[in-house]
Amino acid sequence: MLESLNPQPQDKILQLIAMYRDDPRTTKIDLGVGVYKDATGLTPVMRAVKAAEKKLWEVETTKTYTGLAGEPAFNAALVSMILGDGFADRAASVATPGGTGAIRQALELIRMANPAAKVWLSNPTWPNHPSIIKYLGMPMAEYRYFDIATSGIDFAGLMADLEGVAAGDAVLLHGCCHNPTGANLDAGQWDQVIALLQRKGAVPFVDLAYQGFGDGLEEDAAATRKIAAAFPEVLIAASCSKNFGIYRERTGVLVALTSPDRKAVVQGNLNFLNRQNYSFPPDHGARLVTMILEDATLTADWKAELEEVRQNMLTLRQTLADELRRATNSDRFDFVAHHRGMFSRLGLTETQVNRLREDHGIYMVGDSRINIAGLNARTVPILAAAIAGVIG
Ligand code: LMR
Repeated sequence: MLESLNPQPQDKILQLIAMYRDDPRTTKIDLGVGVYKDATGLTPVMRAVKAAEKKLWEVETTKTYTGLAGEPAFNAALVSMILGDGFADRAASVATPGGTGAIRQALELIRMANPAAKVWLSNPTWPNHPSIIKYLGMPMAEYRYFDIATSGIDFAGLMADLEGVAAGDAVLLHGCCHNPTGANLDAGQWDQVIALLQRKGAVPFVDLAYQGFGDGLEEDAAATRKIAAAFPEVLIAASCSKNFGIYRERTGVLVALTSPDRKAVVQGNLNFLNRQNYSFPPDHGARLVTMILEDATLTADWKAELEEVRQNMLTLRQTLADELRRATNSDRFDFVAHHRGMFSRLGLTETQVNRLREDHGIYMVGDSRINIAGLNARTVPILAAAIAGVIG
């Protein structure tokens, strides 16, 4: 049986991790996978997470199963962190193994509810989006998003393409901090997208993996909240990997907003999907997040550290934009300072990306996406000089 299997294409982001690890050069710089690193190159366990782990060790008396949907307190805490108050009666939710688990469950829910529904993705998007959709055999379409000339949003293209959305189609939107481009819709553009999708009868499907990494915890949820208020049905796949720094714990949530009278049936279907795919969701990370969000002191400390992380990335963006201005003697890369989140797509060719890796030991995704947090004060000028070299 197994001899009939064909090799699978490697995930480009994960492949880069291995290439970087195998590179013996001590000067190498990793701007690949979306993991936060501090100025010393470490991905620290956040202080509040450490404190919650210590407390958990003291108070946890059992490791028996939680509910199929996860701990209700976790789901409630996340719904309120994402949406604020007022949505509890419409929000069915399940804890999932990370944001990817939430995306996978959302897609399966869409397929169960409406097999004909197309899933619309921004072009470009996180490569795992189309990969999972293809794997599930679901119909898929793309809408334009990124303007290569300005490294901003191709808003006219986006609106024109979304005119093709049919009633019941799901439109995947990055709630904040677009991955891979770093270019985000402004409030006025969100309003126009919402009005268009309302007119089309679409179901918004929000991927919210970087809340707190862009303009702030509340600000980064603003678009998702507007969407939640504007549509009868919304799917939200959220991750705690980045904002709580608990990547390997696999902590995420899928929220399905519906009408209060449909909530129980939707919840039952979400529970069913968990049971089919992995039974009970992982608990450790979810429990830590709940402990943090239910304790005012831990919440304050977590928010303060998250804010430091966000500010570090903003400072790195500004210094990189300044250095690139100097090194290239042009304003070509000024957009780096305006982008938000972990990533910016630099607009380099694949050949230039390869040269940066081969000649300079600088690793970025082939589409020239960089992880801003992979930089520090020492490496920013090195990157800027290398980029000026390869484009010159
Ligand atoms: C990324 O885009 O680098 C992250 O979301 C990590 C991943 O799983 O790809």
